Amino acid sequence: MRIGLLNGGGDCPGLNAVTHGVVGAATQLGWEVVGFRDGYEGLLPPGDYKILDHEKARGIIRQGGTILGTTNHGHFSSKHGSGEVAKIPGELMRQARSTLSNLGVEALICVGGDGTLTTALQFSEEGFPIIGVPKTIDNDLKATAMTFGFDSATQVVVDALDRLQTTASSHKRVMVLEVMGRHAGWIALYGGIGGGANVILIPEIPFHYEEMVKVIREREATGNHSTLIVVAEGAAPAGKGPVIEAESVDGEYRLGGIGDRVAAELQRRTGKETRACILGHLQRGGSPTSFDRVLGTRFGVHAVKLIERQEFGRMVSYQRYHVGSVTIAEAVSQLNLVDPEGEVVETARSVGISFGD
Ligand code: F6P
Repeated sequence: MRIGLLNGGGDCPGLNAVTHGVVGAATQLGWEVVGFRDGYEGLLPPGDYKILDHEKARGIIRQGGTILGTTNHGHFSSKHGSGEVAKIPGELMRQARSTLSNLGVEALICVGGDGTLTTALQFSEEGFPIIGVPKTIDNDLKATAMTFGFDSATQVVVDALDRLQTTASSHKRVMVLEVMGRHAGWIALYGGIGGGANVILIPEIPFHYEEMVKVIREREATGNHSTLIVVAEGAAPAGKGPVIEAESVDGEYRLGGIGDRVAAELQRRTGKETRACILGHLQRGGSPTSFDRVLGTRFGVHAVKLIERQEFGRMVSYQRYHVGSVTIAEAVSQLNLVDPEGEVVETARSVGISFGD
């Protein structure tokens, strides 16, 4: 038996751990794994791929990025603008199917976020045996309690805050750290709590500058002359939309720029020196944490088990400490956003963190 594997969308620490899991489990069954390069692009005839054996997978569990390459645009992009879904043209689908059949690939594991899984769903609906594996540092997929990559990304935020705290304290400054997450505030929330932020701004809770000014002044009055603020790239003041940094080649929006705006506005209103730091792709690079290595491996192994049991059209999912699966149809387009009234936000408020609201 030959199975295919591809990584789609933005990269994410833990992708290679999934590959490690897939290759390990498939090899034990005597199957061969065909790894397609650069996501679905590798399916374009004649096929851009490498055979993944034990030798190729050796040591990759600790590697960041993806040994297969990936892209978050290209011929098979099914998400455009602010998330509108577009069907992949029939001719392209036919070409991809012919590559798979010429190579004798009988099932395909697609590792990716919402866009990659939406394309996977189209393959599945057209009758090709597909398994989805969820991947996103943003942790914004509803059908899984956690994705690998999120823990590694939040660890980068925590490390950054630890460093910003010392310089903020030396200079008695306000430091604003802008983090990723698109329309979900999970990275800012977890990173902010773990890194001891005083204010966390997330897309799910519109903020008011005056509230932050109050926090800074109250801190000053109690002898705390520095303040750490984490702002998610999708956060916005009440009544305003998120800041769009740029449009990518296929028309999908890229968020970014709110950190500079918050810093400038707070300096203007408080007169305190304020600096912004944009963490950017540092959150996606580097080695995965132990949690992400283990979760990625479990996801990869489970994907192979689903193929063995012929349970196609399903996405691996992590719920209640257990790796299982849901249908891909159930998984796509359902965003997992932070509940403003939920327990994690409540925990943050209980330890004195403000959401600027
Ligand atoms: O979805 C993951 C993510 O890192 C988002 O948090 C961020 O908005 C986006 O991808 C950045 O994409 P790119 O790598 O294209 O700049």
